[in-house]
Amino acid sequence: MHWSKTQSRARFNLATSGVAPFPLRELRVDLEKLEINDGNSYGYAPLQEAIAVHYGVDPDCVVESAGTSMANHLAMAAIIEPSDEVLIEHPAYGPILDVAQYLQAKVKRFLRTEENGWAADPNGIRRCVTPKTRLIVITNLHNPTSVLTPDSVLREIGDIARSVGALVLVDEVYLDAVYEGTPQTSFHIGPEFVVTSSLTKVYGVSGLRCGWILARPDLAWKMRRLNDLYSATAVYPGELLSVVAFQQLNRLRETGRRIVEADRKLLRDFLAQQPALSAVQTDWGTTSFVRLAHSRGSNADVFLERLRAQFETSAVPGRFFEMPDHFRIGMGVNTEMFAEGLSRVGRALVGAEDN
Ligand SMILES: Cc1ncc(COP(=O)(O)O)c(C=O)c1O
Repeated sequence: MHWSKTQSRARFNLATSGVAPFPLRELRVDLEKLEINDGNSYGYAPLQEAIAVHYGVDPDCVVESAGTSMANHLAMAAIIEPSDEVLIEHPAYGPILDVAQYLQAKVKRFLRTEENGWAADPNGIRRCVTPKTRLIVITNLHNPTSVLTPDSVLREIGDIARSVGALVLVDEVYLDAVYEGTPQTSFHIGPEFVVTSSLTKVYGVSGLRCGWILARPDLAWKMRRLNDLYSATAVYPGELLSVVAFQQLNRLRETGRRIVEADRKLLRDFLAQQPALSAVQTDWGTTSFVRLAHSRGSNADVFLERLRAQFETSAVPGRFFEMPDHFRIGMGVNTEMFAEGLSRVGRALVGAEDN
């Protein structure tokens, strides 16, 4: 996150994970109705309701949070006690690991391998759980690869969790980037599922910090009480604007989708012409995890530094996902910039050959 805040930007920025910002002026909002202060409770009722309706769940199961980041923190903090075992996918989104470690959990990992299409493998998970496992954590879509875990597999993971009295936390912040036939939330699979998400990645309104947790009511209440530590009140104008965003959710999503799909096509064509690069490709998601062939050195960092310094182009180093010979490319911001960024990756690869 520190790298992302301080070093990810470049003229040709392929280090993104969400779609282009959706401008306030295009959100049909009556600014006269915007207010700064109101309420001091456990969630703004119209927003809780909007989230609940979106998912077909009871509002008692919805916990408002400042983005998926705080959602993941609150969810894990409410579930984990120090020295509990927490089983987290590998590769993983770094802050998820960091939160578990911060909470003094004993972190164990289950592997998602490239050879297996980065799939979450229930057999691997079964081998890792013990009676001390309290939580299994997975992202769906998977960050960084955008691989989708189907309901049938999630159900198996839920069964494994239940067999040892554990819960399953599914971070679904990218799930709505499955544009055609979006799966429903895994929260409906069973009571052991806890889900986190937000409007940040797929809807272009990250600045609203509109995030949430779906959890059974007793756990949801515990999370709201924990959030008392971090926030006396939520950002009220953010809550008001988030309700407006929910009323126009499809329009927001379709706006991003057009760019994501154009970029994905460019990326497919580009990768087909680059023998030094390979990726498990998906038909959805805003990111792709690209492998740099070993002949270029097993570490993508040197390549990415040159790409940035000489070609003004950035991508996320795989070392942040514990995979240093990979890098992550983000789609959905600006197709012209994306095309030029890819072209510069291609030129940097030619340069790497000469070195
Ligand atoms: C898997 C995952 N979860 C959570 C987040 C943070 O999301 P938010 O901006 O909603 O806090 C990110 C951001 O990159 C992410 O990739």
